[in-house]
Amino acid sequence: MSAKGETTMQVDRRAFIASVGGAAIFGAMSAEAKADALEHHLLQRLNDEAGGSAPVKRAPTVAEIEAQIDTRSTRRGVGNLFAARAGNVQRLAPMPAQPTLIDFFRLRFMATSNHVLQSANRAMKNGMSEDVILACLLHDVVQELIKVDHGWWGAQLFEPYVSQKTTFAIRYHQALRFYADEANGYEYPELYRQMFGSDYQPEPYIDATYRKVRKHKWYIEPRMVTVNDLYAFDPNVKVELEQFTDIIGRGFRQPQEGLGFDQTPVAHMWRSLMRPDSPL
Ligand SMILES: [Fe+2]
Ligand SMILES: [Fe+2]
Repeated sequence: MSAKGETTMQVDRRAFIASVGGAAIFGAMSAEAKADALEHHLLQRLNDEAGGSAPVKRAPTVAEIEAQIDTRSTRRGVGNLFAARAGNVQRLAPMPAQPTLIDFFRLRFMATSNHVLQSANRAMKNGMSEDVILACLLHDVVQELIKVDHGWWGAQLFEPYVSQKTTFAIRYHQALRFYADEANGYEYPELYRQMFGSDYQPEPYIDATYRKVRKHKWYIEPRMVTVNDLYAFDPNVKVELEQFTDIIGRGFRQPQEGLGFDQTPVAHMWRSLMRPDSPL
C-alpha cells in the first residue's frame, strides 16, 4: 500500500478504529487484516475527497482500484514476506535445519496464521471433517509467498503432503469465494466489494472453474472452506496452533529431511518462504 495521497492524508486514528468496529476488534486483528482495513479506510477517504461529497461508505469501483496501480511501490499480488505494509521489512529468524510445518507457522506465516487458525477453529466447532479442518488451517498461508491465484499456489505447495480432498479444498476455495451458496450458508463477502470493486465480475477462468467444481462430487470440500473462512475476528477467541497438533500429525506427511530439502517438485517453494532475502 503506497497510495500517493498517503503522504499528505492524515489518518484520524479514532475514526479509523471505529470504522473496523472498535478498539477490541482492532486489537485482535492480524497485522494483515489491520493493513487491509487501513487500505480500505484510506481508499474510502480518497474516494470521498475525489468526489467532493460528504463521506459515504461505499466500495470503490473496479476502475478506481485500477487507477491506483501506478501509485503503488509493489503490486497487490506480492507475498506478505516480500513487501512491508509500511516502512521497511524486518529481519527474519533463522529456521531449523529440518523445518516442519509448525516451524513455518511460527517463523514465517506471521501475517496469515491468525486468520487461518481462526478459520480452522471455526471449522472444528462446526464439526467439519479433518480434511476440511486441515484445509482451513492451510488455505491462505501461501499468501506469504504470493497472493495472486493463491488457491492454486497453495494447493501446489501442499499437494505432496496432504490428502487429495484437502488439496482440492485449498485449490478451489479461491474461485468459490466469489459465488454465493445460500443452501450452504455462504454469502458473497462484503470485503470483496472493497478489495475487487463494487462492479467486479470474476475472470472467465474463475467462472469456468466454479462451474466445473459446482458439479464435482467433492464440491462441498472447498465450499466448507469458504463457509468457515473468517474475517470478522472474535477478539475473545485466541486460537493456538497446539489445538491442531493431532490433525496435522494425522493429515500432514512431514518429510524427514525437512520441508524444502525433500526433493519434491515443490521443495523450492518452501525454500523461498525460508529465504526470501536471497537475491536470486
Ligand atoms: Fe483464500
Ligand atoms: Fe481465508
